[in-house]
Amino acid sequence: MSNKAPRGTRDILPQEASRWHFLEERFKKLCYIYDFAEIRTPLFEETELFVRSVGEESDVVKKEMYTFKDRGGRELALRPEGTAGVARAYLEHGMHNIPQPVKLFYYGPMFRYDRPQAGRQRQFYQMGIEVFGTKEPSADVEVIKFTAEFFLSIGFKNLKLHLNSVGCLQCRPFYQDDLKKFARGKLSLLCPDCQKRALLNPLRLLDCKAESCRELMKDSPQIEDYLCKSCHGHFNEVLDLLKALNVPYYVDSRLVRGLDYYTNTAFEFISEDIGAQGSLGGGGRYDNLVESCGGPAVPGVGMAVGVERIVLAMEKEKLWPEKNEPEGVFLAIDGPELREEGLVMLYSMREKGLRAETDYLNRSLKAQMKFAHRNRFRYVIIFGKEEKLKNEVKLRDMLKGEQLELSYEKALNFLI
Ligand code: HAM
Repeated sequence: MSNKAPRGTRDILPQEASRWHFLEERFKKLCYIYDFAEIRTPLFEETELFVRSVGEESDVVKKEMYTFKDRGGRELALRPEGTAGVARAYLEHGMHNIPQPVKLFYYGPMFRYDRPQAGRQRQFYQMGIEVFGTKEPSADVEVIKFTAEFFLSIGFKNLKLHLNSVGCLQCRPFYQDDLKKFARGKLSLLCPDCQKRALLNPLRLLDCKAESCRELMKDSPQIEDYLCKSCHGHFNEVLDLLKALNVPYYVDSRLVRGLDYYTNTAFEFISEDIGAQGSLGGGGRYDNLVESCGGPAVPGVGMAVGVERIVLAMEKEKLWPEKNEPEGVFLAIDGPELREEGLVMLYSMREKGLRAETDYLNRSLKAQMKFAHRNRFRYVIIFGKEEKLKNEVKLRDMLKGEQLELSYEKALNFLI
């Protein structure tokens, strides 16, 4: 055993956890403002759910899923993303029978077996929203505007919103056919992955990371020339609404996304600061997803952001607030015979909701003061033999370096 977290996973240590809380709180606050309700779905689902929704030919399903058989012989997979499970729950609980749209949010770990690198992990956290039951472009815009607001609220000013329409099941096949034809002439020059994509999943030819494939595909047909009237109209309305709401965007005809359930709108928010894994969040419309999970034809649109990548990009852009101000109170009990009385004080402070801590190792007063300083306590209450005799405590303000002698009750009132 190596004593190391498994490759592609990492521990979130206490000093970092506060950053995660900050992001989760901002996200949840926005969900409240936009009227999204929380849903929690299992970390694993039947493998078939992801095969049907994310797509049999997608890299996520083909190469990256953690699949296993449980002791009852069921074929299960750790969720590689959140949308499929939420769609399954929407169906299972008959949410299609209640007034639409249904707006849900979630956050939690996802699992993809990929080569780990900065911003790419095997266990990573997403926060996402989904809107079920409306085809209206205003729902696409709701999701995009939410995402833009979220990034603004945590301090990002220069993320780029890439936007595209990937068409629908009626118009996309014509585009896919022409892409296949285009790639056929260059097949032997494409990378081995793209050679397979050219046959099975031609849209993915557009976002191969290999420079040589990019160069070969740069003059390929463009999806906008293939969109049917309805997809065209939908996309234009999304763009008009975004303009009206002052959300800047960049139409990127090569944006196709890695999951096969998308129809019409697809988007990503990209940071140029963190290298190859610059997509901090993405999503789009999925009008056939619920149906492909065995339900009625319910349209939907949603997105998810990746917490690790946001944390990384915020570090690069120095968006984290400076170190927290010291707060709370450390009770320095000077002498083991005073412990009982000291502990009564400690718990009375906690009962009042103060951040309060003491020493558990019988350290010297000096060592306790050092500990209180290192752990960023604003105040220290010193309770030793001398104070006990005077029926007092010393209250030290660690920031100002000032010290008062007063009764414990007065000190407590002051702290409250
Ligand atoms: P996705 O683009 O695959 O979309 O993932 C969303 C975000 O999760 C990415 O933009 C990225 O920030 C983060 N992410 C993805 N893979 C990794 C990884 N291996 N390590 C670290 N972060 C990662 C979805 O998952 C869709 N379910 C989003 C959606 C919701 N579409 C509609 N509704």
